[in-house]
Amino acid sequence: MDTLFIGQNHIHLDEVDSTNSYAISLLKNVNLTEGTLISAKHQTKGRGQRGNLWNAVAGQNATFSLIVKPAFLNENQLFYLSKCAALALYDVLAYFLNTGHFDIKIKWPNDILVNGKKIAGVLIENVLSGRQLSWSVAGIGLNINQTSFSDGLNATSIKSCTGQDHDIMLAIRYFCTAFEGYYLQLKNKSFNSINENYAFFLFGLKSWINVEVEGMPLSLFFEAVTEDGRINLSDRGGNTYLFDVKQIKWLKLTS
Ligand code: BTN
Repeated sequence: MDTLFIGQNHIHLDEVDSTNSYAISLLKNVNLTEGTLISAKHQTKGRGQRGNLWNAVAGQNATFSLIVKPAFLNENQLFYLSKCAALALYDVLAYFLNTGHFDIKIKWPNDILVNGKKIAGVLIENVLSGRQLSWSVAGIGLNINQTSFSDGLNATSIKSCTGQDHDIMLAIRYFCTAFEGYYLQLKNKSFNSINENYAFFLFGLKSWINVEVEGMPLSLFFEAVTEDGRINLSDRGGNTYLFDVKQIKWLKLTS
């Protein structure tokens, strides 16, 4: 591993319910070093955002979690971890795909799309000790060699794009190197550079997007993402709204 600390301690499992769940229970029971990487060939109960399942065919995808201790962030800044993970995924995809042919985008909050289809997702979970953040677990699911997905999922993989098999461990190692770079930027308080990068790759930013709020479809203008990770939208009457990820659902994008 070509890093200072991310992924230096690596636990690889053949099968586990979820690498995030495994990481969280390990943290409760043993002393782990920052940067510990837990990867699995197969997750039997991979978890996604909003309580969804993350299903990935055994041995064909990257499913892993990184354990970090971002004590230098306050609770309103924790979304920066999501940004770092999304940017690192962007870099992995830029490495594996020809960026001239493929449009790689970050879909708020931290899905990664290639040509409009989801290729990767991030699930960050924080472990508190009392009211204090003690650890964060960044769980990453990246579709690599799987080429068939459930109907209606609108998903893709690196192999679906290139027609070739790719080395899963190489992708994980590449992610660790890229993530460490962004994480160290954060530690140095280089927030602007992370924010600019994230905004640059954001899907739908500064355009009208279709969303669903409390069951109601709406077309709203995507103004920005706030520092604490909420989406800032406005309507034609000039009213602005802030929603967190639980309050709003994406519908299809219009230009
Ligand atoms: C999402 O887009 O909904 C987030 C998906 C996150 C999936 C990864 S796979 C490794 C880690 N362990 C889990 O149970 N979930 C994350």
